[in-house]
Amino acid sequence: MAGARPELKADPVARGILSHHGKIERNVTLLLVLSLLVVTIGGIVEIAPLFYLQNTVEKVAGMRPYTPLELAGRNIYLREGCYNCHSQMIRPFRDEVERYGHYSLAAESMYDHPFQWGSKRTGPDLARVGGRYSNEWQVQHLTDPRSVVPESIMPTYGFLARTDLDMADPAAHLAANRDVGVPYTDEMIADAKADLRAQADPNADTKGLLARYPKAVVADFDGNPQRLTEMDALVAYLQMLGTLVDFSVYQPQENDR
Ligand code: HEC
Repeated sequence: MAGARPELKADPVARGILSHHGKIERNVTLLLVLSLLVVTIGGIVEIAPLFYLQNTVEKVAGMRPYTPLELAGRNIYLREGCYNCHSQMIRPFRDEVERYGHYSLAAESMYDHPFQWGSKRTGPDLARVGGRYSNEWQVQHLTDPRSVVPESIMPTYGFLARTDLDMADPAAHLAANRDVGVPYTDEMIADAKADLRAQADPNADTKGLLARYPKAVVADFDGNPQRLTEMDALVAYLQMLGTLVDFSVYQPQENDR
């Protein structure tokens, strides 16, 4: 074996293995077949357990599906491409955790279809922006970002407050999400239309809504009680981001530390 290390040559077992390996290296077809075999075994070891595991995401108290209004707001977030400048994933690094709060948990995006983790941060991460600012600030910022953050390069989205929210069939929307695994109940789907309106109306009877969706923020988000606008929906969505899990009592599982 040219080039083999002399101390290996001296060892009869190593010499045996090396001479076999020589055969493999000289026979392209054999090398290809054996390489594929090794890759296949590796693939099976990685993929097969996923078929048996019930869930790869740790269950965390507090997580619930989006309210119909939040879901509508999320659609607007996607439509407007906010993810092009904003991530929603706080990494477990000290600088990120000090700036944005507790690092993101897998469970926090388990009802997202598709998830919004992203990797582009022209603007700050939004995973925990909920409750950080008032509704008025959010509306003002979306309408004219430079009026509250003079150096901002964020585009203006004032038209959202002038556009009626068009979520033709909220129930169908929830049902579609249920089809891909979001645990919406029959009751949630039946009441979707009423819940959509109630969340943006502080005078509405919101007992049912809050029982179905704990911690839902009820408000006339855009400051215009006459209309249910896209601004109402988007701000409702922003205000819930990262607020569902109570981190004062959250305990990571042993293997998650
Ligand atoms: C061209 C990039 C860009 C796009 C697109 C964009 N933003 Fe921003 N956003 C920024 C930048 C830069 C900042 C930081 C300056 C500021 O606060 O305005 C920011 C800040 C924010 C903040 C304040 C975050 C904080 O913690 O202070 C929110 C909320 C926000 N954006 C929401 C949105 C939403 C919702 C959309 C889509 C409708 C959107 N942004 C689209 C660039 C963008």
